[in-house]
Amino acid sequence: MQPAYYENFDEIIKKIWLMLDDAVKNRSSQFRIPTFICGNQNDLDGRIVVLRKSKQQERLLQFHSDIRSDKILKLKSNNKAAMLFYDKDEKIQVRAKVECVVNHKNEITKESWINTGHISRKCYLVDSGPGTESENPTSGLRPELDNFDYTHEESEKGYENFTVIQCKINSLEWLYLAAKGHRRAKFEYGDNLGSETTFIKKTWLIP
Ligand SMILES: Cc1cc2nc3c(=O)[nH]c(=O)nc-3n(C[C@H](O)[C@H](O)[C@H](O)COP(=O)(O)O)c2cc1C
Repeated sequence: MQPAYYENFDEIIKKIWLMLDDAVKNRSSQFRIPTFICGNQNDLDGRIVVLRKSKQQERLLQFHSDIRSDKILKLKSNNKAAMLFYDKDEKIQVRAKVECVVNHKNEITKESWINTGHISRKCYLVDSGPGTESENPTSGLRPELDNFDYTHEESEKGYENFTVIQCKINSLEWLYLAAKGHRRAKFEYGDNLGSETTFIKKTWLIP
């Protein structure tokens, strides 16, 4: 028997957001670590990030990063990006085209930083930013930091480097692999329509 979302736009959207919402809470969800792709015409780059928030009403996906990362500069020159998800067990791929806002030292980052645990804070305590060249192989951290030997107060220094990237979805593409026949659908959101969740177009595509 085919799942409810096999050939039904509403069920597909329901399933996509169920999977995204679950990924934020569930460490073993395969949707938890999407590839985030950004850049410009000559220099595109993808990397794995951790999905930290999803909000269907605001068509929002969110992850954290270091302000010194190369992708921040890239996003400042071109805020259009893509997020790519695949769940091997569900056989579902989701491709999101997004527009990004980089948050640094504002209300959004404050809220997320408070909820960032002691262990995760370590990432933001490196002296030199991600991608800095080094003479030797290194984490960039002093040994005591690498060993999580820092106080809560010392971890607060990481806030200087902490950013929250908010990704507003412009379109979603769905691919479901099934022995009886794959199914592929595209959902485009409208900018000026009343509801943030209104689609201007839903289309079936040949997989
Ligand atoms: C499982 C996993 C989770 C990661 N999560 C994040 C993340 O949430 N944010 C982030 O900026 N980098 C994350 N990274 C590191 C990036 O993939 C990348 O190496 C780093 O951001 C530096 O590259 P960039 O500055 O070009 O983005 C993660 C890597 C892995 C393997």
